[in-house]
Amino acid sequence: MKITPRVFSGMQPTGSLHLGNYLGAMLQWIKLQETHECIYCVVDMHAITQSIDVWGGPDELTRAIRMVTAAYLACGLDPKKSIIFNQSQVHEHAELAWVFNCVARLGWLNRMTQFKEKAGKDRENASVGLYAYPNLMAADILVYRATHVPVGEDQKQHLELSRDIAQKFNNDFRDTIVRAGFEDGNFFPLPEPIITGPATRVMSLRDGTRKMSKSDPSDLSRINLTDDADTIARKIQKAKTDPEPLPSEELGLAGRPEAENLVGIYAALAGLGVSSVLRDFGGGPFSAFKKALGEVAVDRIGPIGAEMRRLAGDAAEIDRVLADGSRRARAIAGPIMDRVKDLVGFIRS
Ligand code: AMP
Ligand code: TRP
Repeated sequence: MKITPRVFSGMQPTGSLHLGNYLGAMLQWIKLQETHECIYCVVDMHAITQSIDVWGGPDELTRAIRMVTAAYLACGLDPKKSIIFNQSQVHEHAELAWVFNCVARLGWLNRMTQFKEKAGKDRENASVGLYAYPNLMAADILVYRATHVPVGEDQKQHLELSRDIAQKFNNDFRDTIVRAGFEDGNFFPLPEPIITGPATRVMSLRDGTRKMSKSDPSDLSRINLTDDADTIARKIQKAKTDPEPLPSEELGLAGRPEAENLVGIYAALAGLGVSSVLRDFGGGPFSAFKKALGEVAVDRIGPIGAEMRRLAGDAAEIDRVLADGSRRARAIAGPIMDRVKDLVGFIRS
């Protein structure tokens, strides 16, 4: 079992996908499927790590899994090129996550900033699953021995943990790994993050210092992929700015988080560099810039929302895509998990 380049990534089916997911991760996913073997997952087991009020209960979860799958397809992921499936249909993820629960150290998990943010003040009341979330994420990646993981900037720390887990597994089980014929003693690759999208950290439209997020209570803070043209234009009109005009290329965007975010979004959507956007709009009022930004956003995001609504009307077709993807995913994960069991010393028949 040689290690070959393989891409894995996933998104959670909680709430709806937004512009941050699209620019931060999805654009990379689409590009990579042209050159690599790619596996893209709807991580439904991660979705239930938060309180049931947050993910909305069983009916909402089912709806959200289909909606995120529809978003994958509408954005341009092709189920013929990439494997598209939902995590809970491939039980090897949960099995490897258990082994990793026993490899990862409490001290490592205690450093995870996302746990601290999501658990909030009442840490005693957070689920054990939320705490162990990064171990499941490492299992998602490594159960395919994936080598590359395209994500937004907020996932960097989790990816570092995945590398630490892979490394410790290789060290702990070095003897059986070598005996099994892996001469260099490495069973798992150390997965590399790909954090290179045009906008790896898209900020809230209401506060340029906070990340655009599904969980922000204000819908005005984000552009959802399902928003219609009027809603997109209105949210951009209402986006927070500062009282100064847009800066020139020379003045730059330092200390102006809202302006920096909007200019970054424009650049990413239009496929331009930030300096070229400032050359065109610098010195002018936000009103003219926002109008242009609204138009680019409607051009790029509008058709995705329309296609998502069309696909979402055909649940049977979505479920068929997920069933086919799961079957292909299991064909890769099954033999790798069997190997892991042998390396750990479990008996299987
Ligand atoms: P999530 O919605 O948390 O499942 O995230 C799915 C993917 O989108 C991950 O790769 C995230 O890093 C990325 N992502 C989420 N929010 C943002 C954002 N505001 N800016 C850039 N990337 C993001
Ligand atoms: N934790 C990721 C997020 O919230 C989602 C995720 C789960 C993931 N498993 C993964 C991303 C494996 C990349 C690889 O965005």
